[in-house]
Formats: sequence, structure tokens, C-alpha cells
Amino acid sequence: MTKWFSNHLKPISFLIGICLILVAAAALTSRVDAARSLQPPVEPAAQAKPSNDYCLGCHGQSTLSKTLSSGEILSLYIDPSLFHAGVHNQEDVACVDCHTNISRFPHPDFKADTLRDVSIQLYTSCQNCHAEQYNKVLDSVHQKALAGGNFNAAVCTDCHNPHQQTRITDKQTGELLPEARFRIPQTCARCHNAIYETYKSSVHGAALTMQGNLDVPTCIDCHGVHNIQDPTTARFRNDTPQLCAKCHTNAEIMNKYGISTQVLNTYVSDFHGTTVTLFEQVSPDTPTNKPVCTDCHGVHNISKVDDPATGIAIKENLLGKCQRCHPNVTTENFTDAWMSHYVASPTHFPLVYYVNLFYKILIPAVIGGMLLFVVTDFIRRMIEARKGTRHG
Ligand code: HEC
Ligand code: HEC
Ligand code: HEC
Ligand code: HEC
Ligand code: HEC
Ligand code: HEC
Ligand code: HEC
Ligand code: HEC
Ligand code: HEC
Repeated sequence: MTKWFSNHLKPISFLIGICLILVAAAALTSRVDAARSLQPPVEPAAQAKPSNDYCLGCHGQSTLSKTLSSGEILSLYIDPSLFHAGVHNQEDVACVDCHTNISRFPHPDFKADTLRDVSIQLYTSCQNCHAEQYNKVLDSVHQKALAGGNFNAAVCTDCHNPHQQTRITDKQTGELLPEARFRIPQTCARCHNAIYETYKSSVHGAALTMQGNLDVPTCIDCHGVHNIQDPTTARFRNDTPQLCAKCHTNAEIMNKYGISTQVLNTYVSDFHGTTVTLFEQVSPDTPTNKPVCTDCHGVHNISKVDDPATGIAIKENLLGKCQRCHPNVTTENFTDAWMSHYVASPTHFPLVYYVNLFYKILIPAVIGGMLLFVVTDFIRRMIEARKGTRHG
């Protein structure tokens, strides 16, 4: 019996020891995958605010990560050089100013099942310093989608990486920086890629992405940023002429491209536009069956009007647009009766021009003639009346 023990005790206790070590190791690794090689940095003094260097002592190691219960791997790496170049670090916003519940390692428990869960839980910290943007967002399509259970809708950190975000606006003037404007469509493209691809080949998007032209609209000139509204409503549609007119009636911009600035007033005086304009003022939420700019020109795929494939200065391309609402017209001449954006002139729509001119001459001539007649008649009567009293 004792012999059995002395023979077996050593290997058993050895095995138990190994098991204990394995269990302990497993417990540790299940908590931290890559933390095995961590050198715990110098602990901050008890009362001092933990420095960024303390946090980056661990989080600056590129292999640090943890596995979430969904099986997804959350990288816990914060690139120190990108962090240092970011606007938050430059404005002395420290790790713990955003991660207010963390001051030391070990950290308080944090339960997030998926990567998306991490963002949804942590983005709310932006509220503390950016209440203006935060409050605007509450009213946006994205928040409404989120509230409806669509967790793919954009939150702050989808468009702004808090650890890497560089300046967007000029600190002195508050104006949007050119390089930030240039990048906007790519921000939206992360989730609206099909629209981005269409936009990129439109007259506006190609000018931005191929030529770096900042005069053209990016997504947010038409949709807004933090308060993006549903663009499929009647109100949004009725407002499109004003949306396009912001730039297309601005001679300073349009002269550079030789584009007419008459497009809004000709539209408004046209039989289609008059009604839409009236609608917009009287009952902005009522749907209209008349075309707005985008019915003829397209939305994300607007092209140069003389583009041989899609341009609407080419009759057969234009007819396709008219047929959506005038399904029975089949001849290209249908569009001839319509003045497009032209103001009648001796070269464009001469008949309309000369009829207008004729009226411009005829009406003053008739009224002027009548006035002349009345006045001369009055004078004649006065003279005759005088003659009458002298002789009477
Ligand atoms: C000793 C290394 C170490 C230090 C120092 C450290 N962390 Fe961590 N951090 C980790 C590890 C490991 C995790 C993985 C989750 C866990 O074990 O709590 C983590 C997770 C996190 C997370 C993800 C959320 C969570 O709790 O899982 C955040 C955010 C975070 N740390 C912020 C900080 C901040 C801010 C500091 C500085 C005050 C800091 N960390 C200091 C090792 C460290
Ligand atoms: C401006 C606020 C802000 C600052 C400053 C900040 N964080 Fe974060 N941090 C966040 C937010 C918000 C998230 C959630 C990001 C997301 O959507 O995944 C986050 C996520 C994390 C995570 C989880 C992994 C990840 O990328 O999602 C770690 C780790 C972390 N931060 C560490 C740090 C450390 C270390 C610092 C300082 C060097 C720091 N943070 C500075 C706001 C901040
Ligand atoms: C502790 C305060 C604080 C928190 C929390 C914070 N920020 Fe900031 N943020 C700042 C300061 C300060 C600036 C610099 C503002 C300035 O100079 O106009 C800044 C700048 C920015 C800018 C650039 C603004 C510009 O005009 O160029 C963006 C974008 C931004 N923060 C996004 C976020 C997001 C997203 C979050 C949440 C993840 C967040 N911030 C959380 C303080 C904070
Ligand atoms: C759908 C993408 C998107 C979301 C979501 C978003 N932003 Fe922005 N944000 C932008 C863009 C694009 C700009 C630059 C446009 C501009 O300044 O006109 C910007 C600008 C900013 C600025 C600079 C000042 C300003 O208002 O122009 C701050 C600060 C900012 N955002 C913070 C936030 C915060 C905080 C949240 C969450 C509540 C948030 N953003 C959500 C895209 C977004
Ligand atoms: C993180 C992903 C994400 C990013 C980034 C993002 N969006 Fe969205 N967006 C969504 C989701 C999800 C919806 C909801 C789609 C739905 O309800 O069909 C949505 C809805 C919209 C809608 C309303 C669509 C509709 O049919 O009513 C518009 C407009 C919109 N986004 C514009 C933008 C713009 C502009 C940007 C960039 C400044 C942007 N989004 C960035 C995910 C994103
Ligand atoms: C010149 C103005 C303009 C620009 C630039 C623009 N949009 Fe739009 N967008 C509109 C209009 C107008 C509608 C409504 C179309 C309709 O009547 O259905 C719309 C509709 C949408 C919708 C919802 C309907 C759909 O087609 O799914 C989304 C999402 C959207 N835009 C995202 C974007 C994104 C992302 C960008 C940048 C890559 C962008 N838009 C650029 C004017 C614009
Ligand atoms: C019923 C269809 C229709 C509507 C509605 C319409 N357009 Fe046009 N637009 C055209 C056609 C057709 C042309 C090409 C005219 C030509 O050169 O023959 C054109 C030309 C243009 C041009 C190019 C002008 C130039 O100098 O090359 C611009 C810019 C334009 N439209 C903007 C707008 C705007 C902005 C609106 C809304 C206020 C609008 N359009 C409404 C059909 C339309
Ligand atoms: C932020 C200013 C801006 C807004 C808003 C805008 N545009 Fe433009 N648009 C431009 C500029 C600048 C060009 C010239 C681009 C070039 O030729 O490189 C242009 C070009 C065009 C052209 C091509 C004209 C040609 O050369 O044949 C059409 C058509 C057009 N825009 C229609 C629209 C419509 C329709 C809307 C509204 C849905 C709109 N635009 C909104 C700035 C704007
Ligand atoms: C979005 C729908 C829509 C589009 C696109 C459209 N129209 Fe119209 N159009 C109307 C409506 C509605 C009326 C009014 C019809 C009525 O009152 O009987 C109208 C009236 C007219 C009229 C007046 C004569 C009539 O039939 O009452 C002409 C001419 C006309 N459109 C030509 C065009 C041309 C040319 C195009 C293409 C460049 C075009 N329309 C595109 C909806 C549209």
C-alpha cells in the first residue's frame, strides 16, 4: 500500500500540477488571446489620471486582441502614430476622457457579443463633448433605422474613427478643409457602395474623383450630414429644384464651366415647373405628377447633356424620359414643341421670340396710341370750349 503510494504519488502530483497550470493558462488566454507577451507598463500613481502612454503600453502592441462570443476577433490595437497625429490627441483629449470607466488594468467587465455591439455601446461617449452633432443625429434616417432594429445604420464611429480622426474643419475659420471634402463620398461608400459607383461616373462625381474639383456636390450637399432625411418623400422631391439651383444659378461657379444659369427660371416659367413651384410653396408635402430636375437629368447618374450615350440634349435619350409620364408619345418631334431651358431668341425658337417681340411692340404701341388719342382729344375739347366762352 505505502509502496503503491510512493510509486504513484510523484507522477500523480506531477500530473495534477500540469493540469492546474493548464487550467490557469486557459483561464488567462480565454480572457486575453494575445496578452501573453504583455509587459505590464508602470502603474500610474494612485490618484493621477492615467496617461495615454500607460494605456498604449499594452494597446500599442499590434497583436493584442480578444475573441467575442460570436467568434469575431476584436483587435485591441490602437496605432500610436495615427493616434498621435489625430485631432483628439492634438486637442489634449486623452484615452480616459472618452473611456471614462477605465483607469487601470484589469478593466471593468465589458460585455459585447459582436463587433457591431462594441460600436453601438461605445459611440455614445461622443455625446459628452459634441452635443450639437449628437442631437442632430437623433433626427436622422440612420438613427431611425437603428431604432427600428437595423444595426448596420451609421453611428458616429462609422464615419469618424475616434483614434485616428484628423481635423475636418479649419480651426480658425470653421470651414470644411478641402481634403476632408474630397473624402466624403468614400465615407458613405462603406455602406452605400452601389450609389457611390454610380455617382463616381456621373458628371459631378467624375469631376470630384478624377479632377479633384470641389465645386461639384458631394453626397452631403444634397443630403446633409448629421441630420440626413428620407430622400424619397414628396417634400424632398418638391425641394429638388432649389437644391440644384443653389449652385446652378450661381454665375461665379457656372461661368467657369460655360453652363447656363437660366436653368431654374426657365424651369419655373415652364408649364411643368410652374406647378411644382406653386406646390412647394402652398403644400410642400403633396406629391406632384410633374417632373422635377432629377426626372429628366437623373439623380446619382447625372451626365453632361451632350454626352452621346446618356445626354438628354440628344433627342432619343430625352424622349425616353418624357415617355415615363407621356407614355403615348412615340415621335421625337414631341420634344420639339417644348422650349427646354432656352429663353426664346432669333436662333432658338425664333417663332416664339418674334411673337413675344411683336407683342412687346404691339402692346405699348396700342396703349401709347390710346393715351395719345385721349390727351390730344382732351386738349382739342379744352381749346374748343375756350373758343365757345369767348364768342358766347
Ligand atoms: C496591462 C495591459 C493593459 C493596459 C495598461 C490597458 N489595457 Fe485596455 N485592455 C487590455 C486587455 C488585455 C483588454 C481585453 C479585455 C480585458 O481583458 O479586459 C483590454 C480591453 C480594453 C478595451 C476594450 C473594452 C473592454 O473592456 O474589453 C478598452 C476600451 C481599453 N482596454 C481601454 C484602455 C484604456 C483607456 C487604458 C488606459 C487607461 C487601458 N485600456 C490600459 C490590456 C490593457
Ligand atoms: C474621442 C474618444 C476616444 C478616445 C480619445 C479614445 N477612444 Fe478608444 N474608443 C472610443 C470609441 C467610441 C470606441 C468604439 C469604437 C468602435 O466603434 O469600434 C473605442 C474603442 C476602443 C477599443 C476597442 C477596440 C476598437 O478599436 O474598437 C480600445 C482597445 C480602445 N478604444 C482603446 C483606446 C486607447 C488606448 C486610447 C488612447 C490611446 C483611446 N482608446 C482613445 C473612443 C475613444
Ligand atoms: C472629452 C471630449 C471629447 C470627446 C468625448 C469626443 N471628442 Fe471629438 N473632439 C474634441 C475636441 C476638443 C475636438 C477639437 C474641436 C475643435 O478644435 O474644434 C474634437 C474634434 C473632433 C472632430 C474633428 C472636428 C473638426 O472640426 O475638425 C471630430 C470629427 C470628432 N471630434 C469626432 C468625435 C467622435 C466621433 C467622438 C466619439 C467617438 C468624439 N469626437 C468624442 C473632444 C472630444
Ligand atoms: C454618415 C456619416 C456621419 C455620421 C454618422 C456622423 N458624422 Fe460627423 N461628419 C461627417 C462628415 C462627412 C463631416 C464633414 C462635413 C461637414 O463638416 O460639413 C462631419 C463633421 C463632423 C464634425 C466637425 C464639425 C461639423 O459639424 O462639421 C464633428 C465634430 C462631427 N462630425 C462629429 C460627429 C459625431 C459626434 C457624430 C455622432 C453623433 C457624427 N459626427 C456622426 C459624417 C458623419
Ligand atoms: C455604417 C454604414 C453606413 C454609412 C457609413 C452610411 N450609411 Fe446611410 N444608411 C445606412 C443604412 C443601414 C441605412 C438604412 C437603409 C434602409 O433603411 O433601407 C441608411 C440610409 C440612408 C439614407 C436613406 C435611404 C432611404 O431609402 O430612405 C440616406 C439618404 C443615406 N443613408 C445617406 C448616407 C450618406 C450621405 C452617408 C455618408 C455621409 C451615409 N449614408 C453613410 C448605412 C450607412
Ligand atoms: C446632386 C444631388 C445628390 C448627390 C450628389 C447625391 N444624392 Fe443621393 N439622392 C438625391 C436625390 C434627389 C435622391 C432621391 C431620389 C428619388 O427620388 O428616389 C437621392 C436618394 C438617395 C438614397 C435613397 C434612395 C436610393 O437610391 O437608394 C440614398 C441612400 C442616397 N441618395 C445616398 C447618396 C450617397 C451615398 C451619395 C454620395 C455617393 C449621394 N446620395 C449623392 C440627390 C443626391
Ligand atoms: C422636362 C425635362 C427637364 C427638366 C424638368 C429640367 N431639365 Fe435641365 N435640361 C433638359 C434638357 C433637355 C437639357 C438640354 C438642353 C439642350 O442643350 O438642348 C437640359 C439642360 C440642362 C443643363 C445644361 C445647361 C447648359 O448650359 O449646358 C443644366 C445645368 C440643367 N439642365 C439643369 C437643370 C435643373 C437645375 C433643373 C431643375 C431646376 C432642370 N435642369 C430641369 C431637360 C430638363
Ligand atoms: C454643389 C454645387 C452643385 C449642385 C448642388 C448641383 N450641381 Fe450640377 N454641376 C455643378 C458643377 C460645378 C458642374 C460642372 C462640372 C464639370 O463640368 O466639371 C455641374 C454639372 C451639371 C450638369 C452637366 C451640364 C453639362 O455640362 O452638360 C448637369 C446636367 C447638372 N449639373 C445637373 C444638376 C442637377 C439636376 C442638380 C440637382 C439634383 C445639380 N446639378 C446639383 C455643381 C452643382
Ligand atoms: C414626371 C412626369 C413628367 C415627365 C417626365 C414629363 N412630363 Fe410633360 N407633363 C406632365 C404632366 C403631369 C403634365 C400636365 C398634363 C395635363 O395637365 O394634362 C405635362 C404636360 C406637358 C405638356 C403640355 C401639353 C399637355 O399635354 O398638356 C407638354 C408639351 C409636355 N408635358 C412635354 C413634355 C416633354 C417634352 C417631356 C420630356 C422632356 C415631358 N413633358 C416630361 C408630366 C411629365
